[in-house]
Order: sequence, then structure tokens, then C-alpha cells
Amino acid sequence: MKVEPAAAVVGHVAVPGDKSISHRSVLLGALGEGETRVRGFGRSGDTQATIEAMRTLGAEVEDVAEDELVVRGVGLRGLQSGAVDCANAGTLMRLLTGILAGQPGRYELTGDESLSRRPMERIAEPLRRMGARVETEDGHPPVVVEGGDGLRGIDYTLPVASAQIKSAVLLAGLNAEGPTTVVEPAPTRDHTELMLEAAGVKVRRRPTSVTVEPAGALRLGEITVPGDFSSAAPLLVAAALIPGSDLTVHDVNLNPRRIGLLDVLERMGARVAVHNRRREAREPVGSVQVQYTPLVATEVKGEEVPRLVDELPLVALLASHARGETVVRGAAELRVKESDRIEAVTDGLGAIGARIKSREDGWTVTGVPSRLKGGRLDARGDHRIAMLGAVAGLSSMEGVEIEGAETVAISFPGFFDLVDSVVKR
Ligand code: S3P
Repeated sequence: MKVEPAAAVVGHVAVPGDKSISHRSVLLGALGEGETRVRGFGRSGDTQATIEAMRTLGAEVEDVAEDELVVRGVGLRGLQSGAVDCANAGTLMRLLTGILAGQPGRYELTGDESLSRRPMERIAEPLRRMGARVETEDGHPPVVVEGGDGLRGIDYTLPVASAQIKSAVLLAGLNAEGPTTVVEPAPTRDHTELMLEAAGVKVRRRPTSVTVEPAGALRLGEITVPGDFSSAAPLLVAAALIPGSDLTVHDVNLNPRRIGLLDVLERMGARVAVHNRRREAREPVGSVQVQYTPLVATEVKGEEVPRLVDELPLVALLASHARGETVVRGAAELRVKESDRIEAVTDGLGAIGARIKSREDGWTVTGVPSRLKGGRLDARGDHRIAMLGAVAGLSSMEGVEIEGAETVAISFPGFFDLVDSVVKR
């Protein structure tokens, strides 16, 4: 697929429901008592894998509409044995392993080629400390869980800042004896904690740690999923890059642990405004407007990384248009995402004219305030890299041919249509 240059991006749009919250609504709904109605569900390759997984394990998930589900739960310890295909979804594999650690059955979790290369010992290790039986294959999927009674709550300090590891341990803690505490090196997204609280679980939150008490039952009732900030991000970045742009994305999740990109945009001199701030299902929500202004270089350090981990490829693109040298450090986690995103971004943006060098833990980018030439960019089967290629095409001189563009459907199937609706040529 070729994305041609845009003269500007202008307009008002909304994006599908947040992927992290959508996964969690189905997982927790399946462990709940009775019905959970999910509105604003973000349907995508990843979240569909979660629906199929919970159906395989005995929960009923009814598709009411494209963006609405009813999940009929089996209770906290009612999932039946089974083999689950997690497809490309790391969040599903990691959170589900935590859930299954305290279930009575035997479970085998597999994934696609990309997921099969990703590290799983990081969840297996703390779960074993809780008394669970979890096996990986040389640290990778398939993951086999032989659940059972007798999990013990633990105090666990995360070796890397990861919401997926934190969530796996907390979810196992629901079926453990005694409280489970996770200490974070830097604050990561807290959607699991917020949803557990909403479901009636006793959760104690401190700035750098969180504790859950074992739960008797989960009752969610209704969840409204706000728009996905990570799906809004490519559009907002396009507006920041292309002269004459003025774009508003409405009703997106503004969880403070997700919106580090807005801080980076402001430091780079972009004009950012947030309108209509409110709260929905305990999550902050609002509309974000970005208007083009010339950009300057910035620095992104480790403590900020979890707040924009999925947006860092876009930061590299912003940096290639920003006057001066931008350094991103402390982002080695990018090497174990759906692709090695440090190399995918360096090779991809380098091939279309950016001056970017990889570091072990990020990039150094020398920016020039003009359009990149364009050319060919390989998405490497990674949805975030495909979307990066699309934004790079819009802000280029000659357009960008994306190899493997269809992978956007992993998180955002309607991405290209939405882009077309705001592009001026
Ligand atoms: C996610 C957590 C992050 C993020 C991923 C979704 C989640 O991963 O990159 O896209 O839903 O908890 P890590 O926890 O591995 O950083």
C-alpha cells in the first residue's frame, strides 16, 4: 500500500475503544458473576483473540454490535481447561497466564510467529513464586499452566516497568491467600487496578506500588470503553508534522499514565489543547486538538518511557522533522515488542530519508524542518510500525510504500479509512 503526501490533515474524528481496556473488560467480565455489558468495545485482531480465548475457556461472549458485547462470566475460578491461540496479542497471553494460575484446569497458550519470540519468563517467574505451575519453552511461548489451589500472595518488585507483568501478578492475586503487592520502577498504565476497583475488589494504590486483596467475586455490570489514545496518536502526530494542519480527536482516554506523547509534543513546540475533560468508568476522557507549528528537538528519558511506550516510534518521526538533535533513551523494552521496534524504526525511517541512529536503548535523531523524501518502509508485521509508515508517507515529499500495511488491523482495522477522511491533498 502506498500512502501519498498530504497537504494538511484537518477535521474532527473519533477512534475505536482502547485496546488495553477492551482486553481487560472481556477477561474480567469472563471471571465475573452474571453479565457484563461492554460499550465502546475496540474490535481488532488482538481483542478478537481475547474474545475467542474466553469462549474456549467456557465464558459466553455475545456480540451485540460492532462495538458492544455482553460477557457472561463463569466466576473467579470457573474457567475450563483448554488450548488457547493468543495470535499476536501479548497482553492476552500475559494477563491470561496470571488469571489461569489460580484456576483448577490445565491450559496451553500459543501465539503467532511474532508472539512466539516474545519473553514469557518475566510472568512465569513471579507466578511460580506465588506457587503456580507455569512452564515456558526456553522462556518463550507456548506457555503451559497447570492451575490449582494454594496460591500465596507475594510482594513483587518488577524488574522492568511493564503493565502486563504487573497485571498478571495482580490477577493471580485475586485467587491467592493473603494480599499481593507489586512495586513498579516507574508508573505504568493502571487500567487493571481501576477495573478491579470498579468490580468491587479491595485495591490499595500508592505512587509506586499497588496491593490487591483476594476477591470473593467480581461484579462489573457495565463498562464504557473510551477511545484509544494509542490509535489517536498517529493522527495527532500527522497534524503536528504537516503545515496548515488542525485536527481534533474526540473522546479519547487521557489516563495520565498513557499520555506522555502530549508532554513530548508540547516540549517540541507543538500546539496541543485538551477540551471537554471528564471521567468515564473511572478513566479520564477528553478531546485532543493538535495544530501545526514548527518543532524543536527534545530528550526522552527512561522514567517517561512507560507513559508513551507504544508512541515512541512516532516520537522518532517527530524528531526527524524537529530542528536539532533528539535523544530517546531508557527504551530497551522496544526490542521485545511485536518487532524489535528500535531496529524497525531505524531501518524504516532511515530508508525514507531520516537521519536516525539506533542506540542500545533508543535512538539519536538529527532533525531537519522539512519533509522526508519518502520511499519504501517494511512494517515487519508490526501494526505500530505500519501506522508509523502511513504518517511518514503523509508528511513526505514522494509518499511511502508500506510493506505489510494490512497489519494495522491488529489494533485499528479502520485506520486507513479514518486517515483518508482528514487528509487534504
Ligand atoms: C499493555 C502494556 C504495554 C504496551 C502494550 C499493552 C497493556 O506492554 O506496550 O501495548 O495493555 O498492559 P508492557 O507491559 O510489556 O510494557
